[in-house]
Amino acid sequence: MTDRHRGEARFEALLAAEEKVEPPDWMPDGYRKTLIRQIAQHAHSEVIGMQPEANWISRAPTLKRKAILMAKVQDEAGHGLYLYSAAETLGITRDEMMRLLHEGKHKYSSIFNYPTLSWADIGCIGWLVDGAAITNQVMLTRCSYGPYARGMVRICKEESFHQRQGFEIMATLSRGTPAQRQMAQDGLDRWWWPSLMMFGPHDSASTHSRQSMEWKIKRVSNDDLRQQFVDMTVPQAEYLGLAIPDPDLRWNAERGHYDFGEIDWDEFWAVVKGNGPMNRERIAHKRAAWEDGAWVREAAAAYAARRRDAVA
Ligand code: 3HC
Repeated sequence: MTDRHRGEARFEALLAAEEKVEPPDWMPDGYRKTLIRQIAQHAHSEVIGMQPEANWISRAPTLKRKAILMAKVQDEAGHGLYLYSAAETLGITRDEMMRLLHEGKHKYSSIFNYPTLSWADIGCIGWLVDGAAITNQVMLTRCSYGPYARGMVRICKEESFHQRQGFEIMATLSRGTPAQRQMAQDGLDRWWWPSLMMFGPHDSASTHSRQSMEWKIKRVSNDDLRQQFVDMTVPQAEYLGLAIPDPDLRWNAERGHYDFGEIDWDEFWAVVKGNGPMNRERIAHKRAAWEDGAWVREAAAAYAARRRDAVA
């Protein structure tokens, strides 16, 4: 038996036994490539996602709301850090991931290419966007790749707090003045469909799902996760007294799930391909932040080199 055959057999055995694949283990090239793609995309989403929320830090309605929002945005930076670190264990460097993002060769979640026009949008991001993210990410705590699965455990705990703070903003606005209720409804009208798009294309159009599920990277399909999210969120909207902007939404007793309307896939693919309302601004801002931070990276590298020399 060659080393490669032994590696393959061990990889298959780990998957079958529901054990984790770890960085030194042999893994198929496609498995490594898929993980780098997905984890880097996920990390970029966390970091780019700081922009629409940070837009409201200086305009949060109270000091307490401002402190909570600052903490949340900082959490997202932390999520990016765990995820970039997890991707690095697969042999790609952080500089390379940044280069690929800045050159438009790496994707990030479509959701962050929409503007945050009112304070209710901060509520909607917490309630719907973080709600969708958790629905997707709970299954990733069972991902077959150890560093990603372990990172997701901590991220999911923090996302649960984010979701609750968003729902609480929406509850406050919904119980407020008619203008505040209208602001909440307007937020829901604009964020509902983009939140459903976060789960990706239909299973029949998903390029990677079948293989990713065989490798136990993904555990649940895009459509099944989207359905879970709709079933969970509709009663929450009812509790808030807000209307979901979908005339086809209704309970299907036979299926035991809500039926819902078709996503505008043209809009989805336009946003994914870089033509959403905020794609250009988001990447321009990200590049500028990376360039402005060059001196920090250089100083940190110089400090590390000096310490190494001192120890040697
Ligand atoms: N936005 C942008 N691109 C998307 C997308 C979305 N919402 N959904 C799918 N795509 C892309 C895929 O990346 C793929 O393109 P590629 O081959 O160039 O990479 C193509 O559309 C086809 O989609 P597939 O279904 O074949 O892709 P996947 O199997 O990778 O499934 C996914 C897509 C469900 C998003 C999966 O990658 C995943 O679970 N990723 C991890 C979670 C993640 O990235 N979440 C980001 C959400 S935001 C967030 O977490 C921040 C928090 O603070 C809210």
